Amino acid sequence: MSANILTSKCVLVTGATAGIGRALAREIRDLPTHPTVIVTGRRQARLDELAKEGFETVKFDMDTTPDKIKAFADEVVGKYPKLDAIILNAAIQNMVNFAEPEKVDLSKISREFNINYLAVVSMMTAFLPHLIKIGNERPALLIPVTSDLSMIPLAPVCNYSATKAALHSLIFSLRIQMENAKTNVHVLEIIPPLVESELHDAEGRTETVSKYWMPLAEFTSTVMDGLKEGKIAITAGWATATYDRFEKPKEGFRNGMMNVDMQN
Ligand SMILES: NC(=O)c1ccc[n+]([C@@H]2O[C@H](COP(=O)([O-])OP(=O)(O)OC[C@H]3O[C@@H](n4cnc5c(N)ncnc54)[C@H](OP(=O)(O)O)[C@@H]3O)[C@@H](O)[C@H]2O)c1
Repeated sequence: MSANILTSKCVLVTGATAGIGRALAREIRDLPTHPTVIVTGRRQARLDELAKEGFETVKFDMDTTPDKIKAFADEVVGKYPKLDAIILNAAIQNMVNFAEPEKVDLSKISREFNINYLAVVSMMTAFLPHLIKIGNERPALLIPVTSDLSMIPLAPVCNYSATKAALHSLIFSLRIQMENAKTNVHVLEIIPPLVESELHDAEGRTETVSKYWMPLAEFTSTVMDGLKEGKIAITAGWATATYDRFEKPKEGFRNGMMNVDMQN
């Protein structure tokens, strides 16, 4: 069986004060293996509610610098040395229309790119030394959350789609690097379709998208099956159809070529 969530003793979930992150955190907490689950987000009131449900909580804003992320990682690893799985889930989504360039807010684009990509890369970099080390004892899991829009962009949320495409691409190479270096760090990717959550509230799109979204409970159940199986790409709904058509064929490729390993 592939490395999977059932061997995890301590799981960190970023962006777990709402939506997909919170639902997954609850399911993981309730696994028969009872891992410790650490949840993060910015909203203290939500974190307080989650603490009452038995979660470990750490308030943390992802829109920050690599040195603050390194300090956060050091603090978490110091307090939870058994940490062996990380779900990098926090993200935001903004609408951008380049047909009205005078209205394009570059600071919003930069913030979205930082939270959805650069901060995630900083998190990976900061936590990997610990994950590689703990891999000497048991499998370690690194699980970023991307989107079906990483594979086919949605024009109104073009920058969001680009952040997820960048992350999706990086994950492919990261997995190969972890394998080539013979680490016991396993990189899984959660690729949601449109799912019931608070993600679309910020741009006032919830009423429109709620007609098409997958219910959160249905999505969470599919993802938990994938996490228990240790699937490298955990998809649901139309993200599965898109992945199978455009991305699955790439699984046989390494370093831009079919089955070629270039270490240098
Ligand atoms: N829902 C969808 O349709 C969909 C589709 C494809 C992919 N996804 C992906 O699924 C993941 C979860 O999204 P969701 O739909 O569950 O969204 P959500 O309901 O809006 O939840 C987002 C979470 O991220 C946290 N977050 C946002 N900005 C943050 C920041 N600066 N620092 C720290 N935490 C921050 C929020 O917590 P605070 O506000 O408390 O900080 C919240 O817990 C994201 O990666 C998203 O891109 C979602």
